[in-house]
Amino acid sequence: MRVSDKVAARLKELGAELRQGVPLAEHTSLGIGGTTDEILLRRYETIPEIMRLLADENIPHRFLGGGTNVLVADGELSFVVLHLPSSTPGMRVEGNAAYVDAAADLGGTVTFCAKRDLGGMEGLIGVPGSVGGALRMNAGAYGSQIGPHVREVELYRAATGEIETLCGSDIRFDYRHTSFAPDDVTLRVKLELPSKPFKEIVAGIKVCNEKRRGSQPINQKSAGCIFKNPAGSSAGRMIDELGLKGHRVGDAMVSDRHANFFINVGNASCADMLKLIDGVRDRVRTAYGIELENEVIVWRN
Ligand code: EPU
Repeated sequence: MRVSDKVAARLKELGAELRQGVPLAEHTSLGIGGTTDEILLRRYETIPEIMRLLADENIPHRFLGGGTNVLVADGELSFVVLHLPSSTPGMRVEGNAAYVDAAADLGGTVTFCAKRDLGGMEGLIGVPGSVGGALRMNAGAYGSQIGPHVREVELYRAATGEIETLCGSDIRFDYRHTSFAPDDVTLRVKLELPSKPFKEIVAGIKVCNEKRRGSQPINQKSAGCIFKNPAGSSAGRMIDELGLKGHRVGDAMVSDRHANFFINVGNASCADMLKLIDGVRDRVRTAYGIELENEVIVWRN
């Protein structure tokens, strides 16, 4: 989708940067996604006005964080993409509190806090993506989740059209799900983390990194786990038991390392990946009577 010159001029006045015709395949960890205009939200205080402008002009939009948990449609997209600049995200520590911009890299945040003797997020070290994405999905791995550490979140709230600060206790963090609305844009977070000596944190990080390297295809194009684990069961184990590792649709393939990771081994399209996802879901339903729910967020046209 392309915005008009009139909208482009207004966005400029509002301090946003417009990038035209951006191939989202270059901004997603799956390396899949069509083309659209991207609006870089450089001034948080103008976000409400930018949102009103997009609504008034009937411009559909989606918010892209780190692009590590999203499967984007092919071709010319029917929506523009909003993005927070991530070049110099703010991070600071005061006592046991860490104040971090949502655009910050999650792994970088874990390391930044570790160097200041704040732990509790060791398991999140290898989870790719931004802090904002981790907040939205309540990212978790190896016993760590971001949710329990959240004390405050500053966000653009779609419900009120304003920038607000929510208390951690007002946000629900469930397994790979939170109470944020799809149109909310998280901007900054205050985390409270337990004090821990740097050396101890690094030892924990090393253990998680080794586990991850041993079981997940970390150097391949993926969106992490494709399906949520059903209560009391493992999607990866079921898909593996069905002998589906290596199963392909075009260049979309079930990883032969971890069966809940679907990877792009070349030039997979969104259509290939969706066909693979639906095919595997059908096989699991038939064999186990379980309906797997996507963990990956799908942006259809
Ligand atoms: N398993 C297999 N074959 C496979 C994959 C797994 O038999 O191909 C078995 C394992 O041997 C193990 C069980 O399934 O007995 C669970 O596997 P694993 O420990 O790898 O964990 P998982 O449940 O598949 C979850 C998260 C990961 C997270 C890891 C580590 C979900 C959907 N996945 O995976 O998160 O990194 O635990 O904590 O909750 C993600 O959310 O994108 C993600 C990668």
